[in-house]
Amino acid sequence: MNIQFTRHRRLRSSDNLRAMMRETHLRPEDFIYPIFVVEGENKQNEVPSMPGVFHLSLDLLNKEIEEIVSLGIKSIILFGVPAEKDDVGTQAYHDQGIVQRATRQVKEAFPDLVVVADTCLCQYTDHGHCGIVENGQVLNDPTLDLLARTAISQAKAGADIIAPSNMMDGFVAAIRHGLDEAGFEHIPIMSYAVKYASAFYGPFRDAAHSSPQFGDRKTYQMDPANRDEALREAQSDLEEGADFLIVKPALAYLDIIRDVKNQFNVPVVAYNVSGEYSMIKAAAQNGWVDEKAIVTEMLVGMKRAGVDLMITYFAKDVARWLKEEN
Ligand code: PBG
Repeated sequence: MNIQFTRHRRLRSSDNLRAMMRETHLRPEDFIYPIFVVEGENKQNEVPSMPGVFHLSLDLLNKEIEEIVSLGIKSIILFGVPAEKDDVGTQAYHDQGIVQRATRQVKEAFPDLVVVADTCLCQYTDHGHCGIVENGQVLNDPTLDLLARTAISQAKAGADIIAPSNMMDGFVAAIRHGLDEAGFEHIPIMSYAVKYASAFYGPFRDAAHSSPQFGDRKTYQMDPANRDEALREAQSDLEEGADFLIVKPALAYLDIIRDVKNQFNVPVVAYNVSGEYSMIKAAAQNGWVDEKAIVTEMLVGMKRAGVDLMITYFAKDVARWLKEEN
C-alpha cells in the first residue's frame, strides 16, 4: 500500500521506552493530605460516605502524621469538627478551637511538616453557612472580620499556610490585611479562588457536619456553567494578595485549571474533592474499576491540566504506590 503516515507506535514499544517518553509524573511532594480532627479521646471513626477517611481525636493524631511523613508527604490540611456550634462560628477563631489545638500539637511534634489551615466558618456555625446570616441572607462584609480573626488565630497556632475557602468577596484582602497587622506578613495565602457550588462536596459535608441548614451556597460559590467568571475570581484574589490559586472541584473542571494556569503565573492547586474520592472508592469496593490505575490516571490528568499541587484524600494511597514502585 502506498500511503503516507506517521509511526507514533515507534515510541511506545516497550516499558522502558514508555517511561523515557512520559511527560507527567506524580511525586509525594505534589500532595496535600486532608485530615478531620474532632474533640474527645480515642476517636478514629470512619466517615461512612468516605471509606478510608477518619475523624481523629488529637491523642491519635501524631501516630497518623508519623505515617504520612514516612510516606514522603510534605503537607496536610486540617479541617475541624467542633463539639459546639453557634450562629457566629466562635470555635473557628477560638484560641482553644480544635484546629488551633491540632496545629500547635502537630507543629510541635513535626516542625517541618507544612500545615495548611482551611479558613471557613461553615463547620462552626449552627446554620451551616460560611458567613454571618441575617434574615436568611449570608452577609458579606461583616463576615470578613471573622475570617481575618480565624486566619490570625490559625497563624498564631503555627499554621504555615492559610487557605480561605468561604467565597465572600474581599476575603483575601481582609485576611492579608489581618495577617500583616498581626505580624504574619510571611504567611502565604492559598486561596480557594475558583470554587464552584458543587454536588461533589456531598460526602465532605457528611464528614464535616457542615451542610447548610437552609438554602444552598449558590449566592457565594460559583455556577458550574461559568468559565470567564473563573478568571475574574482568580484575578481579583491575586490582586488582593493570594500566593496560590485553588480550583475546586478538579475532575469536572480540568479546562478551568488549564485556563488559570495559562493566564496567571502563580502556583495552581487542584482540590480533588470528596465526591470525586467516594465515587472511585465505591466503584473499587464493588470490583468495578481498578482503583490504583484509575486514581493514578485521574491525578496525572490533573497535573497534565496544569496543577502544581493537589489536595487529595488519595495522597497516602498514591504515596504508598510510588514507594512500592521504587
Ligand atoms: C468549606 C469547605 C468545603 C470543602 C472544603 N472546605 C465544602 C463546602 O463548601 O460545602 C469541600 C471539600 C470536599 O468536598 O472534599 N467551605
